[in-house]
Amino acid sequence: MSKPRVLQIGSLGGSPGADSTLRESYDVIPLWEATDRDDCLKKAVEVEVVVTSAMHGCGADIINQLPNLKLICNWGVGYDTIDIEAAKARDIAVTNTPEVLNDCVADEAWGLLIACARHIAQGDRFVRDNRWENKEGMLPLGTRVSGKKLGIVGLGRIGMAIAKRGLGFDMQVGYHNRQKRNDVDYTYIPTLRALAEWSDFLVVATVGGSQTRQLVNRDVLRALGPKGMVINIARGPVIDEMAMVELLASGELGAAGLDVFENEPKVPDALKQLSNAVLMPHQASATVETRQAMFDLVTQNLAAYFAGKPLITPV
Ligand code: 8YV
Repeated sequence: MSKPRVLQIGSLGGSPGADSTLRESYDVIPLWEATDRDDCLKKAVEVEVVVTSAMHGCGADIINQLPNLKLICNWGVGYDTIDIEAAKARDIAVTNTPEVLNDCVADEAWGLLIACARHIAQGDRFVRDNRWENKEGMLPLGTRVSGKKLGIVGLGRIGMAIAKRGLGFDMQVGYHNRQKRNDVDYTYIPTLRALAEWSDFLVVATVGGSQTRQLVNRDVLRALGPKGMVINIARGPVIDEMAMVELLASGELGAAGLDVFENEPKVPDALKQLSNAVLMPHQASATVETRQAMFDLVTQNLAAYFAGKPLITPV
């Protein structure tokens, strides 16, 4: 029996072995390996299914060239790089990988938070550079984490996992969403600016895309203030990156722990120079267990589609 054909936009190399495993069950057309993209898309004109990732997305340019497209299967929970409107207009289903990454993303948010408060990355450099051995001064004192105020921008699935960890640190948890949630006891703060003013640590866990672009603007960062710390595990463009760099440099913002950036993998040089910023190359879901679970969800959605069954995680 011939294998069902799928168009794969980009490598799923973040889940080791995923690309070859996919080829065992599917007749994969790998767009990312094609030297002539248009020619590749012409060859894929019959495909009903696209496999992509949060990084590679699927724009209207691709959707419009695939008249038989029925499903876009995304490796990743965020789908801001998929043209959802173009998909909706043609009744094309989209699936993503929710839930399975909540814990690991929340863990990394906490790693960044503690690293910022306790100068972990800076301390590591201090030791490696022999500045401790050579008695070249001391690290600045850190900031207490336990018992402080944790503000969450976007109390969704990942935000909830971050909040839960905050309770273990005896923190007060506040959040800002478009709507107050009635199923949680955390303090709802109706404006983002007021949340920032209230928070010691502001963790950004909202969706990306045009509706949240530069939501955390200069004014919000200023309200967080010189002792405040911002953590971003959502999407880079949710924060006004340029304003953040300026405020970190001037000391008007205390620190930033960042997993995501405006133009990945490009990170502004000015940000790399700052010792009050902890930088990670978009790794929040990058554990063996979670990346396997993300790929499993991709393959489960594909199998469901080709068996004519309901999709597992439609968005
Ligand atoms: C991935 C992510 O690490 O799920 C998402 O939306 O951002 C992460 O899980 C990312 O897609 C890697 O490119």
